[in-house]
Amino acid sequence: MADDLSSFAKDVLLVKGLKNSTLVWRLVVLTFAMVCGVYICTICLKQIGTSSKIGLLDIKVIQNPCPEPNIEPWEIPYVHYPNPKTYSREECSCHPVRYFAILSMQRSGSGWFETFLNSHPNISSNGEIFSVKVRRSNVSTITETLDTIYNLDWLSSASKNECTTAVGLKWMLNQGLMQHHEQIAEYFRIHGVSVIFLFRRNLLRRMVSLLANEYDRNAKLLNGTHKSHVHSPKEVSVCTLFCACMCATCV
Ligand SMILES: *[C@@H]1O[C@H](CO)[C@@H](O)[C@H](O)[C@H]1NC(C)=O
Ligand SMILES: *[C@@H]1O[C@H](CO)[C@@H](O)[C@H](O)[C@H]1NC(C)=O
Ligand SMILES: *[C@@H]1O[C@H](CO)[C@@H](O)[C@H](O)[C@H]1NC(C)=O
Repeated sequence: MADDLSSFAKDVLLVKGLKNSTLVWRLVVLTFAMVCGVYICTICLKQIGTSSKIGLLDIKVIQNPCPEPNIEPWEIPYVHYPNPKTYSREECSCHPVRYFAILSMQRSGSGWFETFLNSHPNISSNGEIFSVKVRRSNVSTITETLDTIYNLDWLSSASKNECTTAVGLKWMLNQGLMQHHEQIAEYFRIHGVSVIFLFRRNLLRRMVSLLANEYDRNAKLLNGTHKSHVHSPKEVSVCTLFCACMCATCV
């Protein structure tokens, strides 16, 4: 009898267990269905969200087109419409901007050439930006710096106004340019940067200038100040006359 009772209890437990397991299965199926439903709903919502976003973007693009610049087809990769983060270009936002870089060596006349360029109201050449070591510590700092310059966000004494139409910098070959030349050439190619390579043909003159500059750094013959570049428009015009004479005599 006791045996029978215990076997009966076992059976009851078994049946209960079976019932429990079917209940668990039902619950599992139910939660699975719910999860699926929620997932499908979120996907639908997301699609609605993106489609409305795309619509907004389209409207913005349609509302704000820049007219085609009147240029030769081969020039198209070299004109840009930067959108500075720090200010608005306002009525000049559709004025195309060209990017340039003056590559050279010290004492090759690049300072004079740059001052000459900067005397134009719409050209902004920002000097030897990579003479500061941290800016050229690796390729990412270099590209970040270049991005800032070419996005017209570099604010220096040479920066012009929102209507700047050519922007660039002066870069000496020994300022990280040779170490990272492959990546920099790629950057210039992708971003349509015009490269001005300034080479002083008369290397003897360059050597003399290097020595004279080194001497003057200590001697400071000009009223106790060392002067290595010409910067004011007056100095440039004097120098231009002088250089023209020199070239006339040397040719
Ligand atoms: C400078 O740019 C402005 C705006 O593009 C233009 O009106 C002006 O003629 C330019 N100045 C020179 C000297 O090219
Ligand atoms: C590049 O140099 C900067 C400054 O020296 C540093 O903060 C950054 O981590 C460096 N990045 C890489 C990828 O080495
Ligand atoms: C050098 O000093 C003299 C006398 O103080 C002054 O007349 C002259 O203008 C100065 N020259 C320059 C280039 O600063």
